[in-house]
Amino acid sequence: MLLQARGLSKNFSGLVAVNSVDLDVAEGELLAIVGPNGAGKSVLFALISGIMKATGGSVYFRGEEITGLKPHLIARKGIGRTFQTTALFNQLRVVDNLAIGYRMRTSSGLFSTLLRTGKWREDTRRTMTRVAEVLEIIGLKEKAFHFASTLTQAEQRKLAIGIALMGYPKLLLLDEPTGGLTEEDTREISGLIARLHKDLKITICLIEHKMRMVMELAQRIVVLNFGSIIAEGAPEKIARDPKVIEAYLGVEHIADSQ
Ligand SMILES: Nc1ncnc2c1ncn2[C@@H]1O[C@H](COP(=O)(O)OP(=O)(O)OP(=O)(O)O)[C@@H](O)[C@H]1O
Ligand SMILES: [Mg+2]
Repeated sequence: MLLQARGLSKNFSGLVAVNSVDLDVAEGELLAIVGPNGAGKSVLFALISGIMKATGGSVYFRGEEITGLKPHLIARKGIGRTFQTTALFNQLRVVDNLAIGYRMRTSSGLFSTLLRTGKWREDTRRTMTRVAEVLEIIGLKEKAFHFASTLTQAEQRKLAIGIALMGYPKLLLLDEPTGGLTEEDTREISGLIARLHKDLKITICLIEHKMRMVMELAQRIVVLNFGSIIAEGAPEKIARDPKVIEAYLGVEHIADSQ
């Protein structure tokens, strides 16, 4: 197993956001995590990536316990992530967003990034090589020197994924990467996710509400409801699971949603 969570829990003063979750992610798989609003999906990602401290339980990555490690150390171990709300530096160019966004995730703070220490300079050439590679992967080479604020919605999502790719992640956690996008843009981002999985062999955990996209992309689906896993399995099985339909999806929802 690439990632294992055992008994992972998070309480917020009385509210159980994540309730003793056991989650296995196999190397090479594309797993979708679905569930109604407030089910605990984003909190689960926050626990895995170290943004939030778990109330209980443990997380193992490549057999090593990473519970309680700082986010930048977890990122360096090979877990990349995007956030539900995209946080780009609008006043910076695409290339700077990649370089600085990456530094911020993998060093202990903005300060050391901005100080440009000797180590920083030494790393710069390597970073720029990776920036060029990532631009190619996300298809934003032509926009490399454009300001992030001038990008389309879909391009901004690609850039956010690009920042997560900078550190050569083995595991990529994507939190609603197409939330709020049009159908056409959704297809484009889906295509990128499929390529990352198939061509770059990156293991992917995808939080997504759009069931058509999930059914197309995912090899396995985990359903969260009120912080607990209520179903898990192949997409066809999940789509027919009465518990899932009752909790969240609804037959029409599966048929109608994109
Ligand atoms: N920092 C926080 N402080 C207190 N409660 C929080 C915090 N973050 C999340 N919660 C609560 O934890 C629960 C799970 O939230 P979470 O963001 O994981 O839901 P989600 O499944 O990602 O939903 P959505 O699909 O709407 O993004 C919710 O009840 C939410 O209000
Ligand atoms: Mg969420």
